[in-house]
Amino acid sequence: MTECPLDLITRRLLLRIPVLEDAPDITRLAGDPEISGNTLEIPHPYDQKAAKEWIAEVSAGLRAGTEMLFAVTGRNTGELYGVIGLMDITREHSRAKLGYWIGRPYWNQGYATEAVCAVLDYGFRILSLNRIYAFYLTRNPASGRVLDKCSMRHEGVLRQHVRRGDAFEDIAVHGILRDEYLSSE
Ligand SMILES: CC(C)(COP(=O)(O)OP(=O)(O)OC[C@H]1O[C@@H](n2cnc3c(N)ncnc32)[C@H](O)[C@@H]1OP(=O)(O)O)[C@@H](O)C(=O)NCCC(=O)NCCS
Repeated sequence: MTECPLDLITRRLLLRIPVLEDAPDITRLAGDPEISGNTLEIPHPYDQKAAKEWIAEVSAGLRAGTEMLFAVTGRNTGELYGVIGLMDITREHSRAKLGYWIGRPYWNQGYATEAVCAVLDYGFRILSLNRIYAFYLTRNPASGRVLDKCSMRHEGVLRQHVRRGDAFEDIAVHGILRDEYLSSE
């Protein structure tokens, strides 16, 4: 794939803007109930129409400057592993929310950690944000572990913050400030 100025390159990954051709892979991986069940924004079932609409929204968010989302792909293979990005980018408060998922066949190989670290670097160095935060369900400790490994701090728990089906669920918040990030380098 041709490099574009928004590509982020890490040791094993190429993070690039999602394109319509990604829709089948995104549908297959995000359609796994383990993904929708552990994220706050992915519906289940998830079909190609939803994936295509999401890809169109990514372009709109990029144009508006409110979202910067990347397909997480193998640097050498081009294989799509998942999605990551900054959402709710708010210039007034100089902050953004980090979100991500990695397809189940690729779990526990360090891909989420590698992608999160790259996006933090992008958010602080290129976008010059002051704060990046992430929400995750407290019953999903793997997500908290990824954020810990990227030096984000556990800031608290929002009790029963979301309703999923019949249950109210707790959400944990991790965050990191620009000064903390730059001084940890
Ligand atoms: C959470 C998720 C992104 C992790 O992706 P990944 O590529 O497997 O993450 P990594 O390999 O970089 O790191 C996973 C870490 O969690 C740990 N982990 C895995 N399962 C765990 C569990 N049940 N409890 C505690 N830690 C766990 C792994 O051991 C690893 O830590 P380590 O390197 O110290 O051993 C992936 O599982 C996923 O997409 N889940 C569904 C969607 C989701 O949860 N998105 C994030 C919420 S917004």
